[in-house]
Amino acid sequence: MQRILVVDDVELNRELLRNMLEDEYLIEIAEDGEKALRKFRKYQSSIVAVLLDLQMPNKDGFAVIKEMKKNGWLQKIPVLVVSSENAIEIESQCLAFGAADFIHKPFESSIVRNRIKNTIELFAGKNRLAQKVEEQEEALKKQDRIIKLQAEKLQEAEPFNRLMMEYRAAIMGVENRLQVLNEEFSLEYNRNPFESIKSRLKTPASIYEKLSRKGYPVTVESIKENLKDVAGVRVICSFPDDIYHLAELLVKQDNITLLGRKDYIKSPKTNGYRSLHLILNVPIFLSNEKKYMKVEVQFRTIAMDFWASLEHKLKYKKDIDNAEEIVGLLKTCADSIEVLDYQMQEIRDKIDSSRKNNDVSEEPGQ
Ligand code: GTP
Ligand code: MG
Repeated sequence: MQRILVVDDVELNRELLRNMLEDEYLIEIAEDGEKALRKFRKYQSSIVAVLLDLQMPNKDGFAVIKEMKKNGWLQKIPVLVVSSENAIEIESQCLAFGAADFIHKPFESSIVRNRIKNTIELFAGKNRLAQKVEEQEEALKKQDRIIKLQAEKLQEAEPFNRLMMEYRAAIMGVENRLQVLNEEFSLEYNRNPFESIKSRLKTPASIYEKLSRKGYPVTVESIKENLKDVAGVRVICSFPDDIYHLAELLVKQDNITLLGRKDYIKSPKTNGYRSLHLILNVPIFLSNEKKYMKVEVQFRTIAMDFWASLEHKLKYKKDIDNAEEIVGLLKTCADSIEVLDYQMQEIRDKIDSSRKNNDVSEEPGQ
């Protein structure tokens, strides 16, 4: 049965509360703060509320609240101050210290009974939720440990390491083709079609996690078959039209097959994410064979990349209490970035065309 600890130095008050509540709860009594804390420790697991007087010998109500707060008990068990103190400062101080409620004496018993009941239910709900979160966190940690362990095993396997080498070779191949285009553009048109390239190989833990999440076996064959983003190349361009131009040039090249294309620039995700994704099948040339490997190439502008890296952080943060607001702010930024990207492109076009005009007008004099 649930216990309520009634703490008051005046017997009449204790009996009043006992009569009011003993039908529903087991009542524990304490005459001062010292005894209250002793009883609290003893019955902690079954106590669902503490009704606490303020003025008492030995230890007063404030001292009891402070000690309970220090021990982290106030979060789990509500303390309702029952006092004839009428000063607003006293009431507000109690609540500030962490008391769940303040009941003024004299009181109307049916109202107080319901207030106590409601507070107990509120805390029970809160505690259940906290317990659930704790269990989920524990489960996640366990899953994390398993993933790490399995990933380490994966790394010990020779075929896995060979496969990773092949994906690295595929990344090099794509990077090389892009660098060549960059060189050519610099020479021919005096401009760079991209600002930078960031490449990455998916980590063993991430490979393991994705395969098991999607219900695929964790084998070398399954990695090749089911994952398209083990090899990832991110191309950061200055302007949106560079993205399309570059992607087209790349896909057109010999020995490249386009396996998939997602245009999140023309159709952005609801969160505001914009990028052009290509899944390419590219050859690698090994000592005695030629193999095709899948590579995910993401094209973005500098501004889209700036946005995506900040937005990515949101995914890894748990327990953000203003997540909804942040999602809204990010969406607004994504919209502004879209406008900005095209404005910058227009300005570049204006600069380019004015330079061409100047070049033409200078011609006769040369
Ligand atoms: P994944 O299983 O996450 O790879 O998704 P998918 O196979 O459905 O492919 P998609 O083309 O949607 O996304 C591939 C990659 O693009 C992701 O792994 C991220 O690197 C990036 N990406 C996609 N959507 C978002 C997004 O909303 N925000 C950010 N920051 N990155 C994204
Ligand atoms: Mg991915």
